Amino acid sequence: MSYQQFYSGFLSANSHNQHYACHSHYFWPDCTRDAMLAYWDDSAKYVDHKWGFFFETLVPELQKRISTLLNTGAPEQIVFAPNTHELLYRIMSCFDMTKPFKVVSTDSEFHSFQRQASRLEEQGAIELITVATQPFATFSARMKAAIAEHDPHLVFFSQVFFNSGYVVDDVSGIVNSVSNDNTLIVVDGYHGFMAKPTDLSDIAHRAFYLAGSYKYAQAGEGACFAHVPSGSTLRPAYTGWFAEFGHLDKPRKIAGKDAVQYSQDGMRFAGATMDFTALYRLRAVLRLFEENDLTVQKINDYVMHIQQQFLSELAKQDHSVLNETNLVVKEASCRGHFLTFELPNADVTQALAASLKEKGILTDSRGNRLRFGFGLYHTPDYINLGALGEID
Ligand SMILES: Cc1ncc(COP(=O)(O)O)c(C=O)c1O
Repeated sequence: MSYQQFYSGFLSANSHNQHYACHSHYFWPDCTRDAMLAYWDDSAKYVDHKWGFFFETLVPELQKRISTLLNTGAPEQIVFAPNTHELLYRIMSCFDMTKPFKVVSTDSEFHSFQRQASRLEEQGAIELITVATQPFATFSARMKAAIAEHDPHLVFFSQVFFNSGYVVDDVSGIVNSVSNDNTLIVVDGYHGFMAKPTDLSDIAHRAFYLAGSYKYAQAGEGACFAHVPSGSTLRPAYTGWFAEFGHLDKPRKIAGKDAVQYSQDGMRFAGATMDFTALYRLRAVLRLFEENDLTVQKINDYVMHIQQQFLSELAKQDHSVLNETNLVVKEASCRGHFLTFELPNADVTQALAASLKEKGILTDSRGNRLRFGFGLYHTPDYINLGALGEID
């Protein structure tokens, strides 16, 4: 079984390399190229009417597909944006920014959250409570305890941590432990979406879920989304004209309190004009998977199998630092689609990544952690670690 036929363009452009960074930049299936041309053709055809056309065809189809993939039962609650940072900041803008608000999060959130939260903390705009993700075995209990102790305005955590690949198996438990109905809850699902089978049915009424297409959805940058909790009446201060699409809360008023109206569904969290090319790519990939009966479960089974093959090949190398002992997440059932090795320090890590790159083995590193990602365009034959070598 091979899926390489879907990726001929990216594979031939990278035929001299082994690409193990799909957890950062997944190769795009060939159908995304046609999708980009289709976007051009539709823009030419519909010109001034293209937004109406996109919002009547493309957007509902994607909302339905994503909602089905995540089992939210509420397609109208999906809203798109070019990146998740914009969505995060829009959620944060629901708080009264004149008073500090309390946030419980983890020490392993991606920079879009971590940097923004740190900057707001510097300004005294938020009080940030950070829960360590390790030891993983007790993470969920410690996260729940921090939420109970601090009663925060916002809870933010990842489904799969970007710096280890650890999969939080108790997302629902953490969300449902939040007893204060006014607390906003955001799950960063970027490393889960289209990689790990995900069922949001029991938290869709309560939590935001953020993800995008840059990684496992394989459609590149520019197509991120949020599932907005059903029935949300929040009024983000950071708002754009797309948020008025669809049915509005109330008739428009010219001025006065509550004059700004919002769409009744997830579109209330929309921004403004964006390039929909990426959404065309995303639709093409999701259609491709459906046509080929490629469910997230099947993708996960395939990728985890390849990951295991890689580890078997790696064991034969008997490498001094790249070995199972240095894996951050040792249990395969708790792992996302990439392996993270913890090395002695950042210098060793960078030197090793650079030496691998010279040998055509492409990875990526974060501090003293080296990550190898696996995807549908890998096969057992693709893996060739004969050239691995030791670091000098
Ligand atoms: C966990 C996680 N969240 C979000 C993102 C992307 O954030 P943004 O869409 O703000 O660029 C990434 C990486 O690209 C990530 O690893």
